[in-house]
Amino acid sequence: MIRVPVGLGERSYDVLVGAGARHRLLEVLPTGVPRAAIVTQEAIGVAVDAGVEQRTFLMDEGEDAKCMETVEDLCRQFSRWGLTRGDVVVAVGGGVVTDTAGFAAAVYHRGVPVIHVPTTLLGQVDAAIGGKTGVNVPEGKNLIGAFWQPAAVLCDTEVLSTLPPREYASGLGEMAKYAFLGVDGLRDLPLDEAVAACAACKARVVSADERESDQRALLNYGHTLAHALETAGRYDLRHGEAVAIGLVFAAHLAEHMGRIDEARVKEHYAVVESYGLPTAIPDGADRDELLTLMGRDKKALRGGLTFVLDGPRGVEVVNGVEPGVVREVLS
Ligand SMILES: NC(=O)c1ccc[n+]([C@@H]2O[C@H](COP(=O)([O-])OP(=O)(O)OC[C@H]3O[C@@H](n4cnc5c(N)ncnc54)[C@H](O)[C@@H]3O)[C@@H](O)[C@H]2O)c1
Repeated sequence: MIRVPVGLGERSYDVLVGAGARHRLLEVLPTGVPRAAIVTQEAIGVAVDAGVEQRTFLMDEGEDAKCMETVEDLCRQFSRWGLTRGDVVVAVGGGVVTDTAGFAAAVYHRGVPVIHVPTTLLGQVDAAIGGKTGVNVPEGKNLIGAFWQPAAVLCDTEVLSTLPPREYASGLGEMAKYAFLGVDGLRDLPLDEAVAACAACKARVVSADERESDQRALLNYGHTLAHALETAGRYDLRHGEAVAIGLVFAAHLAEHMGRIDEARVKEHYAVVESYGLPTAIPDGADRDELLTLMGRDKKALRGGLTFVLDGPRGVEVVNGVEPGVVREVLS
């Protein structure tokens, strides 16, 4: 088992990565916890044994279920079971489950400890680590949420074998991102070590900037175009596929702005293609719409667009990118 510490003072915790990590639940349970509320989805089928009294609460599938109604429903069910602040919530699932159950744990009784058992690759390398929890509203994704750090994260690589291939590929898109955030040799590592290396990178960034006042924004590398493609909603892309296209686009933009050379752009293609992910903006995509959506991104500032871009000092946040330059690179 690989142990990745997330250093956040008294809110520090470990991410355990490896085959069978889910069986370590009892070990990481906060001391004296009498009961565990397991939140998961029917299709996931990953059983956990907290070693204390436990009950399973099911939530629905998909982004639509990541909503306030589900949070209310979970909290009401917790209450009927008599869950207290002395108990624990265990989220077993992908990012949809860990974001929603994490937020329910953050607000129920003003905060119940939560342990994440991410069952998707995307959850293991990204969503379950770092304490961002939240839900969607019709006006936008992740608009309601809280920072609520888990007490532990158990990344069991064994459970990834049942993941549908496209969901696995989606996780690879986030993995590709880490290759440009300083994780070297990622493609040559066995799965456990690759997941742990990504988790360690996220842990480092989160430890340095828990609330995204600065460095944490780098984790959005490739995400500005990705979010625009997802918001446009017509392109049948999983999140990681959209990120893959966003990474390649960000490389072209950085090259156009003289920040990186052609060889570095080729490296972006090599990494993304090695994971079998798409590199091109979908055929017939409406460039003007994508530009408008990127301008609305929550990281956007007045007087230009904000991107996370590669450069001589590595990946960094760049403000004030001219819309005309972005349009040129888009086309
Ligand atoms: N909090 C964060 O920092 C953060 C970071 C990145 C993404 N996210 C969020 O994560 C969400 C996406 O998460 P996701 O990609 O994991 O999608 P997801 O949670 O919807 O899971 C994808 C699908 O795989 C199924 N599944 C999960 N584990 C399985 C398993 N082991 N075997 C078989 N099927 C399984 C799920 O039931 C679901 O149908 C988005 O809502 C995104 O906003 C959050």
